[in-house]
Amino acid sequence: MSNHDHLPTSQAYDLWSTVYDTDGNVLQKLDDIYISTALPPLITPNTTVVELGCGTGRNTLKLVELGAGKVFAVDNSKGMLEKLCEKVKTGGEEVVEVFEVDLSTFASEGTAVENGGGEFKKALEGREVNGVLSTLVLEHLALPAFFAAAASILPVGGWLLLTNMHWDMGSISSAGFLDTTTGKKVKPVSMNHTKEQILEEAQRWGFVVEGVEEAGIRDEEHARAFGRRAEKWVGVLMHVGILFRRV
Ligand SMILES: C[S@@+](CC[C@H](N)C(=O)[O-])C[C@H]1O[C@@H](n2cnc3c(N)ncnc32)[C@H](O)[C@@H]1O
Repeated sequence: MSNHDHLPTSQAYDLWSTVYDTDGNVLQKLDDIYISTALPPLITPNTTVVELGCGTGRNTLKLVELGAGKVFAVDNSKGMLEKLCEKVKTGGEEVVEVFEVDLSTFASEGTAVENGGGEFKKALEGREVNGVLSTLVLEHLALPAFFAAAASILPVGGWLLLTNMHWDMGSISSAGFLDTTTGKKVKPVSMNHTKEQILEEAQRWGFVVEGVEEAGIRDEEHARAFGRRAEKWVGVLMHVGILFRRV
């Protein structure tokens, strides 16, 4: 019997949502470090941001704390969005609007009509979006769907801050969590995208690169700062952050 359950992405994240914020995920910790320096310079009180694949709001709440004027948070896992809504209730309800949208329906520019996509698009009508944030989501989407979504939302001049599992880590692993109720590892749909593939698809949709940062666990001592789960990743690049501008 397999010790892995491969589930549709939204179902896997519905299950993962119960422990997502607390299971000591090393990639989230690397993401926090990158976001702590990459995000603040992009946010002012007038900034409107769309967050694609916001999950439990790990970074949505940072946007609120940094003083963004408006945040449209999008995901297709009800479980993850419930966690976000609980957090937003105690700070941010007037800033954050939440939408259940399946980003894979953005197959070509502006065609998301299913699963709340229409409602989301209506909310954006007449709004100038300044930036799109998407952290640790890209591995679950085909590249054309992701960049079609970002391009349909972001006008020329806007920024896209994207993070993802690094392609080196993605060549030997993928997102997943241990469901302690079944003892099985739950795996959503996942695909590894190389640097060349990401940058080529981004360019097709009018995104130019302003910076790329790659990070991982350097050595045993570095691993200690990230907890027990970091030990097996020593020497592997795990995280990439890319800042794009739409031209
Ligand atoms: C690893 S989590 C990242 C959550 C959050 N951005 C963070 O950094 O903590 C990936 C998120 O992408 C969402 N996601 C995956 N595929 C999606 C799709 N097709 N449409 C919308 N959201 C999707 C999942 O539901 C999940 O919340």
